[in-house]
Amino acid sequence: MIENSSLARPALVTGASRGIGRAVAMQLAALGVPVVAIARDKAQLAEVVTEIEQSGGKAVAYAIDLTDLATLPERLDEIVEARGPFQITIVNAGMGYTADIADTPLQDWQTVLDLNLTAAFACIKAVLPGMRERRSGQIATVISIAGKQAFPGWGAYCASKFGLLGLSKALAQEESKHGIRVTAFCPGAVNSTLWDTPTVQADFDRTQMLDVETVASALIQTLSLPPNAVVDELVLMPSGGTF
Ligand SMILES: NC(=O)c1ccc[n+]([C@@H]2O[C@H](COP(=O)([O-])OP(=O)(O)OC[C@H]3O[C@@H](n4cnc5c(N)ncnc54)[C@H](OP(=O)(O)O)[C@@H]3O)[C@@H](O)[C@H]2O)c1
Repeated sequence: MIENSSLARPALVTGASRGIGRAVAMQLAALGVPVVAIARDKAQLAEVVTEIEQSGGKAVAYAIDLTDLATLPERLDEIVEARGPFQITIVNAGMGYTADIADTPLQDWQTVLDLNLTAAFACIKAVLPGMRERRSGQIATVISIAGKQAFPGWGAYCASKFGLLGLSKALAQEESKHGIRVTAFCPGAVNSTLWDTPTVQADFDRTQMLDVETVASALIQTLSLPPNAVVDELVLMPSGGTF
């Protein structure tokens, strides 16, 4: 179980409107953790909040485009001020993107890096002061096996995820002395809505992929360890295949 002191404290979950983030938000709320959900789609966020509340949990949502970097730090500071400090932060929002590097326009490259790496940095920066002050907190970055292994046709995505792994590893080393635990989470292919998004062109067999509930549950189990233990890197793969 998540340590008792965490239960009354809110968790920030980015990309909580669908996919892995939604499953994480639902499962945290079911454990009694109040959830603060971030994504762009207001209607889908409202559905998540309603579903959590109908199950007896607590949640609020903020519709934010995390690639709007000019205003992002200010928006995040407002959320932390209003809803924090956060005991748990799941840095999950991200986008898939397929194209050979030779065919990737600079603007697309920048968008992938903005969301998958720079927005993650901004979210982490926003929650750190409260965690440091309380000398307690857990940050999980949802990376990918593509943060450890290169896949042709996924260059911008791999670059963003290798970067996020580096950020997570450095963060873990810097923050352990402040009582903050950091988990770099690297799942293989997950059958989420990512595969339906217009920036992803791939025809993998989705039935062989991990499901979002299993992925969320594996992550939450790692966050449930006592304060003197941390899973600093978790690689979770579909048992039937390597992608
Ligand atoms: N699916 C996989 O195979 C897989 C494997 C390993 C790792 N991952 C990683 O896991 C994370 C979640 O992926 P997923 O599979 O759950 O993808 P998904 O189903 O496409 O969900 C992505 C989430 O991120 C949010 N999001 C996207 N762009 C955003 C933006 N500009 N601002 C704010 N929120 C934004 C989406 O909400 P809105 O559209 O409402 O904004 C949604 O809630 C990502 O970082 C992904 O790279 C995925």
